Amino acid sequence: MNINLRPEQAEDYQGITRVNDVAFKRKAEGKLIEELRKADEFNSNLSIVAETEAEVIGHILFTPVSIKNKGHHNKSLALAPVAVLPEFQKRSVGKLLVIFGLQIAKESGYESVIVLGYPSYYSKFGFKRASRWGIKSPFPAPDEAFMAIELFPGSLDGISGQVIFPPAFDNV
Ligand SMILES: CC(C)(COP(=O)(O)OP(=O)(O)OC[C@H]1O[C@@H](n2cnc3c(N)ncnc32)[C@H](O)[C@@H]1OP(=O)(O)O)[C@@H](O)C(=O)NCCC(=O)NCCS
Repeated sequence: MNINLRPEQAEDYQGITRVNDVAFKRKAEGKLIEELRKADEFNSNLSIVAETEAEVIGHILFTPVSIKNKGHHNKSLALAPVAVLPEFQKRSVGKLLVIFGLQIAKESGYESVIVLGYPSYYSKFGFKRASRWGIKSPFPAPDEAFMAIELFPGSLDGISGQVIFPPAFDNV
């Protein structure tokens, strides 16, 4: 299977919504992406599609967030959502999207990434419990599911506090 990863373009919007609707079996994530796309902070380089010759089969989005912190500022992103069409799952498309996305995030000058998700999945990429830095979720979440990764060694040193997500996340 030949898979290409690249930033989204306008002609991908429908395919991205479809991948999310089908993978999550609901419309909330697709709508979230459409909402976030309207915001000034939206960066299409951080909205990445996985495609075959035929169609978009996977997608990952990173959105700038801030961490309520005394003194220090950290350029952080939230990883959400990530989705792969069911018929293409378990073939490492998700893994490719996460690894490629973290690389683009790093090259774009971001220092850390936050995710709320499956601990067993994200720990493989180096995500650790955000609570080890005192970084807190604004949403009710099990401690082990709210995770962070430093994109540079020590980039979360001295960073703690609550993560502030764009308001669109409140509806998911
Ligand atoms: C999560 C998702 C993006 C992974 O995509 P993928 O292409 O299948 O991922 P990969 O092939 O790289 O990895 C598959 C791994 O994900 C794991 N995984 C999938 N769903 C999982 C879940 N609910 N809990 C824990 N692990 C899960 C599989 O067990 C598998 O693990 P293994 O490699 O140890 O066997 C895909 O399953 C999906 O779209 N799910 C529905 C949407 C969703 O839940 N998104 C994530 C929100 S945090």
